[in-house]
Amino acid sequence: MTYNPKTNNDYRIILAIESSCDETSASIIEDGRNIKSLIISSQIKDHQKYGGVVPEVASRKHVESISYVVDSALKDANVTYDDIDAIAMTKGPGLVGALLVGVSYAKALAFAHNIPMVAVHHINGHISSNYLTHKELEPPYLSLVVSGGHTLLVDCTNYGQYKILGTTRDDAAGEAFDKGARILGYPYPGGKLIDEVAKTGDSAKIRFPRARLKGNQLDFSYSGVKTSLKQYIEKHDKETLAESIADIAASYQEAIVDVMVKNTMLALKATGHNKLSITGGVSANSRLREKMSIHCKENNIKLYLPELRLCCDNAAMIGSAGYYMLKDKLFARLNANAKAYESLDDG
Ligand code: KG4
Ligand code: ZN
Repeated sequence: MTYNPKTNNDYRIILAIESSCDETSASIIEDGRNIKSLIISSQIKDHQKYGGVVPEVASRKHVESISYVVDSALKDANVTYDDIDAIAMTKGPGLVGALLVGVSYAKALAFAHNIPMVAVHHINGHISSNYLTHKELEPPYLSLVVSGGHTLLVDCTNYGQYKILGTTRDDAAGEAFDKGARILGYPYPGGKLIDEVAKTGDSAKIRFPRARLKGNQLDFSYSGVKTSLKQYIEKHDKETLAESIADIAASYQEAIVDVMVKNTMLALKATGHNKLSITGGVSANSRLREKMSIHCKENNIKLYLPELRLCCDNAAMIGSAGYYMLKDKLFARLNANAKAYESLDDG
């Protein structure tokens, strides 16, 4: 048996698989923009007791759930392998053991059913999540990607064509939220909890630092604000902290969001784009959504935000990114491999 799939330019139905971190996900995508089914099996509960994702645990959990997740996605969309025109999987970046589960499973399916395959960069996936929510969105536009592992300002000139304008020099935005939440005593991942608690707090109560960087003004740095929160907690007694926890969360969140808004507005000015797409887990943050909406309105920028279930890791976004890669004939072969690190500019 040889792997020699038929390729044409019509990849209407794509099976997508994502396993880069702590979510095992599969999805059926139609015409690159419509979600026929989306299954996400989260491992958060398995990692919570360790205060973060344990790579070895993540790999084992992916192995346990991958067949069930993929079968469920096919069943929910009412399709069989005969209907699948291509398979898209996340090749990286991410935890290599976790990625290998999705990559190997996709390769086995592609070989067994002789279906074309495409290997997608995880951030290309996040950026593409907005194509599923906003059918009218087309490049060029500016993209802000804010997740647990990445903080990027990207000039998106065409589908899959990216130029990185700014990135974090230390912690990613989601990491800043999660580390801050841990300092405040919340379980992993605490970004969503900070968002919730901050809703009743006064964000002007404490002035946490906004990093001023030398060099590229579009870069980010979040390690300072985290250290500042730690020092604030150490300086105050338990009762005072308990009384003002909402103000602390709101002020901390404001410092993180402020930098995102400032850099994004600068990047919009520099590139001349009038469309802004925000994606990644942190794009679910209600204060970021609110503040960015205000600034975009004032500056006549059209803002695109993903529906909430598409902010965090999911296979639907991989299917959408894969669709445009297939149109460019960027097929993967059976020697495709998982990659822990890879720049978005490299593909
Ligand atoms: O995109 P994602 O699922 O994973 C990566 O590719 O890293 O993002 C997960 C990150 C976590 O750090 C999580 O705390 C953060 O997104 N997050 C939030 C919110 N919801 C998820 N951060 C702030 N506010 C939220 N509402
Ligand atoms: Zn992600």
